[in-house]
Amino acid sequence: MTIGGLTLRNRLVVSAHGLATVTDGAPNAHDEAYWRRLAAGGAALIVAGGTQVSPESMPRNRILTEAFNERAAPGLAARAAAMRSGGAAAGIQLGHLGRETLGAGTFLPFVAPSPITGPREPAPARPLGIDEITVIAEDFRLSSRRCADAGFEVVEIHAAHGYLLAQFLSRSANARRDRYGGAPANRARALSQVVQAVRAGAGEDVVVGVRVSVEGDGPAHLRLEELAELLTHVQAEAPFDYLNLTWGDRGRYVPDMATTHPPLLGRTHELRDTLDVPLLLCAAFRRPADIAEALESGAADLVGSARAHIADPDFATKVLDGRSDDIRPCVACLQDCRSYEPTGLCAVNPDLAPAGSPRKPALPWRPNGHRPQGSRVVVVGAGPAGLEFAVTAAARSGIEVTVLEQSDRIGGQLRIAASAPHRAGWSDLLGYYQRRLEALGVDVRLGTEATEDDLAGADEIVWATGARENPPSLDGAVTAEAFLRNPSELLAGADSVAVCDDGFGSWPGIGAVEAALAAGLPVTLVTPGTGFAGGIPAESRTQLLERLTRRPLEVRPLTGPDRWSDGVLHVRTVLDGTAHAVPADVVVQVGTRHPNEVPFPGRTATWIGDSVAPRGVSHAIAEGRAAAEELAAPIG
Ligand SMILES: Cc1cc2nc3c(=O)[nH]c(=O)nc-3n(C[C@H](O)[C@H](O)[C@H](O)COP(=O)(O)O)c2cc1C
Ligand code: SF4
Repeated sequence: MTIGGLTLRNRLVVSAHGLATVTDGAPNAHDEAYWRRLAAGGAALIVAGGTQVSPESMPRNRILTEAFNERAAPGLAARAAAMRSGGAAAGIQLGHLGRETLGAGTFLPFVAPSPITGPREPAPARPLGIDEITVIAEDFRLSSRRCADAGFEVVEIHAAHGYLLAQFLSRSANARRDRYGGAPANRARALSQVVQAVRAGAGEDVVVGVRVSVEGDGPAHLRLEELAELLTHVQAEAPFDYLNLTWGDRGRYVPDMATTHPPLLGRTHELRDTLDVPLLLCAAFRRPADIAEALESGAADLVGSARAHIADPDFATKVLDGRSDDIRPCVACLQDCRSYEPTGLCAVNPDLAPAGSPRKPALPWRPNGHRPQGSRVVVVGAGPAGLEFAVTAAARSGIEVTVLEQSDRIGGQLRIAASAPHRAGWSDLLGYYQRRLEALGVDVRLGTEATEDDLAGADEIVWATGARENPPSLDGAVTAEAFLRNPSELLAGADSVAVCDDGFGSWPGIGAVEAALAAGLPVTLVTPGTGFAGGIPAESRTQLLERLTRRPLEVRPLTGPDRWSDGVLHVRTVLDGTAHAVPADVVVQVGTRHPNEVPFPGRTATWIGDSVAPRGVSHAIAEGRAAAEELAAPIG
């Protein structure tokens, strides 16, 4: 496959992303290590994202790369060399956020084609003068020169996701009456100018790509047909070497697990007829079968994924070798990769670590100075902590692992989480663990309560017994956990449902709401917190609110339950105690989680995951991994 003059080793691309491995606008040593690891994973082209061309496009924390800043040059060169070290082509995406500030504080005023308020700021951006558009094109030229000098073979122009160049393309963000606004040929002009500038800056040997995104099917959105028309103008004025087509604007462009199928798969044929340019198709390609379909059907020339490679840096090699079963899957949870605390991490991949740490920091709990030893290990509990422990330990030679699980299936809390509407993505992870357990020959005993006999021959015991929700304080109410296990039975004959959240706005309460709505019932959500769904990733929240639009859901913030009788839930506002009555034939009460009691608390053992303190899956997996690695190489 060739794009521009560049021959690629296959058709799999790591699409633009960055993990904030940047200090004061310059890629740091950790950045280089990250891209080096990805490059070893077999992708043909890797595109680094999060790289800005102008100072007014930078957040105050400066965790994006400043391509306009000479100080970034050594880090950029190290990044490009790291990508090429593994045989991948080195790509970098250049962008300008325009009115989209990422919601982060900025030092400089943000700018846009028109003074129209964007989705992330309460006030409109300052509109750009014509001379300033030329200055920004010049910024692109200088930045692409710096990137070409640093060794990048591909420069991709970011005209997607509602950022500056997409704002110019968009009818809803661009109300200009000059030659940059109005007709499609005018709205395409800023992008054409930037393509020309990048070509001039990067030189003839560098491949120039353009990334655009379909924003949806609403009237104000940039739709596929409109993009095709706009890009025809760009291609005529300023030919580019490949088109990267992806999905979504703010809050939607990194779809969570509710999006189970690549949204653009099967929709590109008209665009391909209109535009004669290699097509790189992206968004939610995390399953090898979808990638194969895109390539084999001719829907795309190249397929790009970001998170699949974050979750498993060897994703490309495994896809190419037909080893799909070995892929540690991205489940599209958005729980770690988009929070940059302190750098992008991954809930399912504990090898991805912040700077200075060999893996995600985690400590199993070993009371009384216990040091693990021996080769026969019994793990009690097959939730994510126990599963990660088991597959990591069993992969180390000489360690014999037995897993005891009291229920009849592996998964623990994760299985309940996966049963909520739009949350089945977690099953992919459980499928991975199941296959690994089988491949490694781990002795898994389901439906087994641990007894003294089971533990007798063990050199090491690992408690991975998880946590459970407290019983509801309201008589007759059910926990979210119990409800999600069997919503249809609990809802039989009901006409209305109330969900009492604990105020943290996390998935259990949301799952209960969505399960009741899916059963066709009206729902009232009561929460002592200030709002709904505050405890989930921001992008998941946007996508959730889209699903809930026009559904029969009433949200009562700053309100707590009092008592429930005769199909009425009596609630009170937290601030002034005003009483209200809420119709509710079924009440779900989200409870605090507490660790389960372990069967033999006096035994010397290693404790991991929720059995230590209930937290998220990311902690559970990291602790399972840490405990297994310490067992293989005992500490102290
Ligand atoms: C941590 C992270 C950072 C990202 N940064 C960028 C970026 O700088 N530029 C961009 O165009 N897309 C960015 N994306 C979007 C991805 O390129 C991709 O389009 C999106 O994640 C959907 O594809 P996926 O399902 O394969 O992850 C980012 C995604 C993630 C997860
Ligand atoms: S944190 Fe979740 S969404 Fe992000 S890469 Fe990991 S599994 Fe995928």
